[in-house]
Amino acid sequence: MEWPLFDLRVRLGPVLLRPVTDADLTALAALLPDDVELDPRAEQFPGLEDCRDRQRRFVQGAWHSRGSWSPRSWCLDLGVEAEGELVGLQTLEGDDFGALRTVDSASWLVVAARGRGIGTAMRAAALGLAFDHLGAVAAITSAVLDNHASLGVSRRLGYLDNGRSRISTGTGVAELQHLRLSVDTWRAAGHRMEVTGVEPCLRWFGV
Ligand SMILES: CC(C)(COP(=O)(O)OP(=O)(O)OC[C@H]1O[C@@H](n2cnc3c(N)ncnc32)[C@H](O)[C@@H]1OP(=O)(O)O)[C@@H](O)C(=O)NCCC(=O)NCCS
Repeated sequence: MEWPLFDLRVRLGPVLLRPVTDADLTALAALLPDDVELDPRAEQFPGLEDCRDRQRRFVQGAWHSRGSWSPRSWCLDLGVEAEGELVGLQTLEGDDFGALRTVDSASWLVVAARGRGIGTAMRAAALGLAFDHLGAVAAITSAVLDNHASLGVSRRLGYLDNGRSRISTGTGVAELQHLRLSVDTWRAAGHRMEVTGVEPCLRWFGV
């Protein structure tokens, strides 16, 4: 079976991104921090205690991403290693990517790995893959207004505010800040990273 994505690697400083394997998913589910927002629309299974049901939703979400992969619409779950240790997840998403050339992203880190620049490095690594190797022209992202760390990563990398919207969180309503980064701003910053194994994946990304 050919699935070249498993051989993709992106390195930036101390950070290595690699598509998650099933073994990684078990490890990541065990590491999943309580403050990571899962899709509020995802069904919760009755009779499973909250922590185990969150882990189940996380793993099933990753299976869904891989199982529904299409060159038109894809969501790449990348495990994040810092100094050889698995510390989080960085996702990169493209919808109608061949035409729109726009990527979205989301990420989380274990609490102990936060506040040291790893969140910025892993987002930059994913953006390097998108802008420098897949031909993206824009990256978008969003975060609730009080998520200062996520907004901090986006602003540090040059994203500009791109409007707000209101979302249902499952427990109420929150205000979401949207941001956008253009390929020109990305190029002007001169980021450099090492990407290997991308060539056989290009058709998978609709490129
Ligand atoms: C979002 C997340 C991945 C960021 O990773 P991180 O390693 O903590 O971020 P960095 O250390 O690279 O910090 C990036 C910027 O945000 C700022 N920042 C980080 N944490 C902050 C906080 N709690 N309050 C205010 N600013 C903060 C940093 O100062 C830095 O800005 P600067 O470069 O201008 O100084 C991480 O905090 C996390 O996992 N959070 C929980 C999950 C989550 O909310 N994910 C995003 C959902 S959209």
